[in-house]
Amino acid sequence: MRLVHTIAQVREAVADARRLGSTIGLVPTMGALHEGHLSLMRQSRRQCGFVAVSIFINPTQFAPSEDFASYPRTLDDDAQKCEQEGVDLLFAPNALEMYPQGFDSWIEVGGLTSLLEGVSRPGHFRGVGTVCLKLFNISQPDRAYFGQKDYQQLQVIKKMVSDLNAPIEIVTVETQREHDGLALSSRNRYLSKVERQAATVLYQALQAAQAEYASGQRDSSALEQVIHSVITAQPLAEIDYAVVVDADTLLPVDTIDRRVVVLLAVRVGLTRLIDNIILNNDATNNWIIPD
Ligand code: PAF
Repeated sequence: MRLVHTIAQVREAVADARRLGSTIGLVPTMGALHEGHLSLMRQSRRQCGFVAVSIFINPTQFAPSEDFASYPRTLDDDAQKCEQEGVDLLFAPNALEMYPQGFDSWIEVGGLTSLLEGVSRPGHFRGVGTVCLKLFNISQPDRAYFGQKDYQQLQVIKKMVSDLNAPIEIVTVETQREHDGLALSSRNRYLSKVERQAATVLYQALQAAQAEYASGQRDSSALEQVIHSVITAQPLAEIDYAVVVDADTLLPVDTIDRRVVVLLAVRVGLTRLIDNIILNNDATNNWIIPD
């Protein structure tokens, strides 16, 4: 595996791979790699001849009040993990490489970004869209891999790729979970022992929603009530949002007569966690719990 820090080095490595006829897979990350990221790499390894991973803690997607300064920086450990997964190229640029002096062009995806995470984290998706398009332009992958856990991010990126005709297939990889159902996230490491225990309430709420749905409940506000009652029973948890919305538009639905997604954002202590489950679509409804 080659670890590189400049855009020129990425372009050169990708051009070499292309000359050899390889398809290119890109796994964009912010590092602090866990099994969720590794599952993206494995999927990319299965589908592409050349696998690139980027590690860049993108300052433009953090609000000033958020955890940019304290976000875990673990490049040596991350590089080892990438090596073990058979990654070909690890791109770890610094902020000036990505945002040189005078940088001032931004991606604004409409509609979707004014909801939910977009409300709680103003400017977040502008930063995500911009950095992802830059990473796509830098590495020109055939496929880019994203986890379902960041469901709204995934929808925003798909919309950007479609609206701007980026010649890239966006591949979704199901959420990876701990033994007790907690979705893997780099931010889980912020949780104290007692908060870590309490954090399973997100998974319990999703399971309760799925059980209600399976027993025939099709009223989305009734489902939301069930979810709210599970989460509010946990004193360490505070709901930011817990909604049942159309899986494509993320707009509210009254009756569940189409594919919907349950989206949760819950603060456990100081840590904000998100999770989701798709209803109406068994094929993408995965509870990946290790044996
Ligand atoms: O999901 C993430 O880790 C980040 O939002 C991404 C897609 C790497 C962009 O910085």
